Order: sequence, then structure tokens, then C-alpha cells
Amino acid sequence: MNISENLKNKHFINLEDFTPDELKGLIDLALELKKEIKQKGSIDILKGKNLVMYFSKPSLRTRLSFEIGMAKLGGNSYVIKQDEIILGKRESIEDTSRVISKYADAVTIRTFAHNDVETFAKYSSIPTINALTDLSHPCQIMADILTIYETYKSYKGLKLNYVGDGNNVTNSLLTGCASFGIDITVSSPKGFEPDTNEINKAKEIAKKTGSKIEIINDPAQGANGADIIYTDVWTSMGQEAEAEKRKEIFKEYQINENLMKHANKDAIILHCLPAHKGEEIDFDTFEKYSKTVFNQAENRMWAQMAILLSVIK
Ligand code: CP
Ligand code: NVA
Repeated sequence: MNISENLKNKHFINLEDFTPDELKGLIDLALELKKEIKQKGSIDILKGKNLVMYFSKPSLRTRLSFEIGMAKLGGNSYVIKQDEIILGKRESIEDTSRVISKYADAVTIRTFAHNDVETFAKYSSIPTINALTDLSHPCQIMADILTIYETYKSYKGLKLNYVGDGNNVTNSLLTGCASFGIDITVSSPKGFEPDTNEINKAKEIAKKTGSKIEIINDPAQGANGADIIYTDVWTSMGQEAEAEKRKEIFKEYQINENLMKHANKDAIILHCLPAHKGEEIDFDTFEKYSKTVFNQAENRMWAQMAILLSVIK
């Protein structure tokens, strides 16, 4: 199994902290792990290693894919919920980080402010993995890229169109697609485009990989000729008070059969899930394309196992 020594003890917080070759190496490792562990059930390569997972927000996929992934590698995981330690309130993030570093071999954090994860990592002597912040969701994008590769057996020349809210998933998709040379068009309503800094970072990467990056406001134009149509909820965790207002703003940005007519005939749909069917995607379209979406959810586990194996010493 090809596990790079270069990534040992590295934090996994921003995709742009990794070279395109390093990210590709992680996808290759995920493919290897998926094949081998589907045959053997588990391997004991992380026996005796412990993963601590902290959540300030709900999770189904991230929690279970990390926990079960860690178990399949022979290691243990421990989940702490927000009400148990109240990150940054009961004691400082700096102290929490230094304590967890004394017990565990890696830590995942899902919280609101991206800066809190950066602060945690600064004080952590073990790898800190970003399990979603308001700014980004890099683990999700590694699973998405794995799913794209399994479908098309290539990266370069593919066109992905993200339709909807320019949120944490979109920000990471931009750097992810740029790193793998995938062209990406984001179609969002005015004022809901992805983070400007993240767009600029992706454009810098794209200069080297040749990927094209476009941020537009027209959903049909974005879907034109796309191989992959991607969406996420209109209201992310923490924005619940804006849900009604957002339904109105985003109503033209639904993935449905009309929009899919603009995409390539064999295009796939990706959705990080959870889905709010009837909002960002209609029920029938979701069901029609759901096989890939649930493979994508499965791939969270394989992609993250590759990350864990690479960063844990
Ligand atoms: N896609 C994703 O991160 O799902 P969860 O919020 O359920 O972890
Ligand atoms: N943008 C969504 C992603 C959920 C996995 C959120 O932050 O709620």
C-alpha cells in the first residue's frame, strides 16, 4: 500500500495546503483501501491508534464514516458533542487542543468559525482534521473527487457545475476541482457567490493545473455541457433563521429535469447530503440520480480512511 511519509502529522484543514500530487496520492490510496478492505473486511494498520471527534453541529455521514473507517483500520474513535465541552467556552481552545493531543493520535473538528479549527491546530501536536466549518468542508470534496474518478476514470477535461448557495462545500469544491484540473462553474444568485478569498486561491491553483473557474448567476448557462451537476442545501447549519427568505431567493436554482436537459446526456448529480428535496433538488430527479449520490456518501469513508492513514504517525 502506497502511504506517503510526507503527510505524517500534517493537519488536514485546507485543500490548498496540499499539492495536487499529494491530493491525487490520497485518492489513489482511497481506491486501494476500498478494493482491499471490501475483500478483507478490515486491516489492522491503525491498531492502538485513537481518533477524537468533536462536533458543534449535527452529523450523520461525517461521524459514522470516520468512526467506522477508523474501526475498519483497527483503531478506536471517541465522539465529543458540543454540550460536553463547549469548545472555547468551558476552557480555551488552546488548552482543549493541548489536552486532546496528550491522549489521541488525531482529532476531527466540526464547528462554526474556521479560525477556531486553525487555532486548535496551532496548539495541537497531533493532526487536526477539518470536519466542516462555515468556510469549508475538505473531507467532503475528497469523497466527491473519488466519486468523479470512479465514474469517469479521469479528471482533466471534465466540467462540474455547482448550482445554488456558494457555501462551505462550494468553497472547497473550487480548490478541489482546481487541484485536479476539473473545470468548475458556480451558478449562484447575486450576493450568494462563494467566498472571494477562496475563489482567488482556486484561481491561483488553476493557473498551474489548467482548470477553468467561472462564477456566474445563470443556472442554465452553468449546466451547459456539464459532466457533473452538484448541489447542496440552500440553508446551511447555523443559518436556520434565514430559511424562508432563502427559499424565495434560490427558487430558480433547483436541480430538476429542466436543468438536467442542459447538461451532458450521461451527466451525474452529486449532493453532499443531507438533501432538502423539493428545494435544491426535486424528488424525482433526486431518485433518478441517487445511485451516485449514495456512492458519494459511501466514499466519505474511503477518502477519510486514506487521510487518517496518511497523517497519523
Ligand atoms: N455531508 C456531510 O458532511 O454530512 P453530515 O453533515 O451528515 O456529516
Ligand atoms: N452546507 C451544508 C453542508 C452540510 C454537510 C452545511 O454547512 O450545513
